Amino acid sequence: MENFLYSIPTKIYFGKGQIKNLATIIKEYGNKVLIAYGGGSIKKIGLYDEMVKNFKDNEISYVEISGIEPNPKIETVRRGIEICKDNNVEVVLAVGGGSSIDCAKVIAAGVKYDGDPWDLVTNPEKIQEVLPIITVLTLSATGSEMNKNAVISDMATNQKIGTAHENMKPKASILDPEYTYSVPKKQTAAGTADIMSHIFENYFNHTKGVDIQDSTAEGLLRACIKYGPIAMEEPDNYDARANLMWASSWAINGLISYGRSAPWVVHPMEHELSAFYDITHGVGLAILTPHWMRFSLDDITVNKFAQYGINVWGIDKHLDKFEIANIAIDKTAEFFKKLEIPSTLREVGIEEEKLDIMAKKAMNPYFKYAFKPLDENDIINIFKAAF
Ligand code: NZQ
Ligand code: ZN
Repeated sequence: MENFLYSIPTKIYFGKGQIKNLATIIKEYGNKVLIAYGGGSIKKIGLYDEMVKNFKDNEISYVEISGIEPNPKIETVRRGIEICKDNNVEVVLAVGGGSSIDCAKVIAAGVKYDGDPWDLVTNPEKIQEVLPIITVLTLSATGSEMNKNAVISDMATNQKIGTAHENMKPKASILDPEYTYSVPKKQTAAGTADIMSHIFENYFNHTKGVDIQDSTAEGLLRACIKYGPIAMEEPDNYDARANLMWASSWAINGLISYGRSAPWVVHPMEHELSAFYDITHGVGLAILTPHWMRFSLDDITVNKFAQYGINVWGIDKHLDKFEIANIAIDKTAEFFKKLEIPSTLREVGIEEEKLDIMAKKAMNPYFKYAFKPLDENDIINIFKAAF
């Protein structure tokens, strides 16, 4: 296990009715709030009205930015910063899924920055002071509610870039699984695939002596495999929604990545698909993952794939290790099919002639340190296999 600094400062208020704490949480940081939310799902589920009433009762004043789009855009970040500056906002409250939270994070950082906020996306080291961020999560997927990351797009230049800073970690997040009862099947499936992909990116790694991180990762994967389909069939199954919600945070809050390091590879590949075609992040990941796994399986990586097959899928450990690995990869692909996620890039509207440029843009020199090192040609081949 490698050295690490443990730092997860976000307070989590988990469970039914935790919204009752929101006013008290906000008042620790200020009285003027920006509410940042998406296309209106929070109004449909009554959450918006509940919050606003709570603010009035507690003399908290608020302004808002709505219409934050899935795969949030830099223009929306700019709009949010202006609203904050014009109204002397003290606290940024994100209500929604990863897109609203990510957008809110860069707004909160941008208020304290003199230049254009795109600088903060391309150069995270320019992020310094950040307004306090609080979140109310309504979709289990990205883990943004408990981490330092934000992913912002500029569709004019086909760029989708992740930025990160310790100061962008939310001060507190309210995780009430009941708010996710209304998440449609497609988003429930995509969210489950996203959570699993975060776990895979951390788990498929050569660092030795990380039993705690590995067994935690395997338990999280088993929970996703158990509860993803249940949440799709029974949207108001509390335990299914609760397990997915907590798995969303754990998959990417540091607990399973501390003590080991390696570049993520499937995410950078998927971000190019979204940057060019604005597709749903989790869907792109589910399409690419089995092909990335098949590409990655070799003599050096086979033991880890076999470990995954035995501990996550319960495959007989007496079989040949390559057989176990291949069955595990097949089961992963079948699982995403069971979640009714498309299994080819063409099904989500991606055009073959764009594969080369997307592969070129996804390529990163750090990929030579990946679980299975890969170059631009390998990425093209993974895209082609997924096409
Ligand atoms: O906009 P509204 O009306 O709220 O509808 C949203 C949106 O259409 C809807 N939704 C959310 N909660 C709902 C609901 N519908 C019904 N009931 C509810 N309770 O779901 C749709 C998708 O929402 P979005 O926030 O876009 O989804 P997600 O949470 O998957 O976020 C995706 C974004 O996060 C980035 C992705 O790249 C993408 O841009 N990521 C962020 C990460 C991070 N910050 O750590 C890591 C991830 O790997 C990822 O890259
Ligand atoms: Zn993701």
